[in-house]
Amino acid sequence: MKAQIFAPGSTVGIIGGGQLGRMSAVAASKLGFHVHVLSTEASSPATEVAASVTVGAYDDPAALEDFASRCDVVTFEFENISAEGLGLLERHRPVRPAGEILRISQDRIAEKTRLSEIGVRLAPWRAVNGPEDLVELEMLGFPLILKTTRFGYDGKGQFRIPDVEALEALTDLPYPLVAEKMIDFERELSVMVVRGLDGTVRCFDTVENRHRNGILDVTLAPARIMPDLARQAQDMAASIAEALGLVGIMGVELFHAADGSLMVNEIAPRPHNSGHWTMDACLVDQFEMHVRAVTGLPLPSARRHSDAVMHNLIGPKDMARVPAILATDGASIHLYGKVEARPGRKMGHVNTIFPRGALPGELALEGLLPPRC
Ligand SMILES: Nc1ncnc2c1ncn2[C@@H]1O[C@H](COP(=O)(O)OP(=O)(O)O)[C@@H](O)[C@H]1O
Ligand SMILES: [Mg+2]
Repeated sequence: MKAQIFAPGSTVGIIGGGQLGRMSAVAASKLGFHVHVLSTEASSPATEVAASVTVGAYDDPAALEDFASRCDVVTFEFENISAEGLGLLERHRPVRPAGEILRISQDRIAEKTRLSEIGVRLAPWRAVNGPEDLVELEMLGFPLILKTTRFGYDGKGQFRIPDVEALEALTDLPYPLVAEKMIDFERELSVMVVRGLDGTVRCFDTVENRHRNGILDVTLAPARIMPDLARQAQDMAASIAEALGLVGIMGVELFHAADGSLMVNEIAPRPHNSGHWTMDACLVDQFEMHVRAVTGLPLPSARRHSDAVMHNLIGPKDMARVPAILATDGASIHLYGKVEARPGRKMGHVNTIFPRGALPGELALEGLLPPRC
């Protein structure tokens, strides 16, 4: 069957009510699409800006059917949709990216297995299905990191194991897990790669990501690395997109290891926090690229017209800075409309742009926004 193209005027269905859905919905409406959201809450970042909403659980067949019946094409901003739910949606409507890609990214073992088959380099890893597998982990070398295979985000569900004594002292772990060697990295990088219905692949520039308390804090676009390394990261992202037959956008997180090599950390087949800089530094941002890909529209260049620094606004402490940020020249603020600012919750982000090649130095980075209180 020929893959269907959906012209502006069609309805794009987005599963998930969070900020990624909100910004995707705004991008879809810019292109003249209607947006229908499936969310567990009637009032959520995405439902605030969508034309219509199905309120229901992501694994409730009645809610999924109601949702699908109101859309032409389905995409998602929320990754943890059950396999049954995905199957049900796929019987009703085109789901882009395909459910199979989501199934891979939902499970770290499936993800690493598939990425190894594709041939991209990963941090050395082992599946740990129960206590009997722990003894083999010494072969990976220390320090190690154990991660739950499902539902991890912002560093949640991770256990750092410095040495063999710590490994032997472990009890009551939430198996199955993935063990990875801790990589001594220079920096963390990511690439947003998008692949269209016709196979066109575009990569936004390789960026550097810095985390704070396990949550993305700052993105520097472009990453301060040699151009050939930046290109190598994009090539890795493009090869994964092609091998998976991706239709839509995907974030590829990488480590730039101290020995100079690149390793893929994880993939996220949806818009990604580390792509928010594109909203102010590219003519067509990650959300519009995603909507274009899932509806089958052409994909324009992913060129960066400016350099950019993206700061996340996390929890009540950063929300207290918003009045001062609003009064700062050159700070493009994006707020997600979340009512409650809990600690660790992503509330918005701020992009600051510079002419290409004029990204500020480390000291000046600190002073871009009003200080944290
Ligand atoms: N093998 C590793 N070596 C070093 N640091 C790691 C490793 N795995 C994860 N981390 C650190 O933990 C962060 C979160 O891990 P990640 O696998 O990306 O999980 P999440 O799904 O929570 O984003 C990474 O961005 C990185 O800073
Ligand atoms: Mg991650």
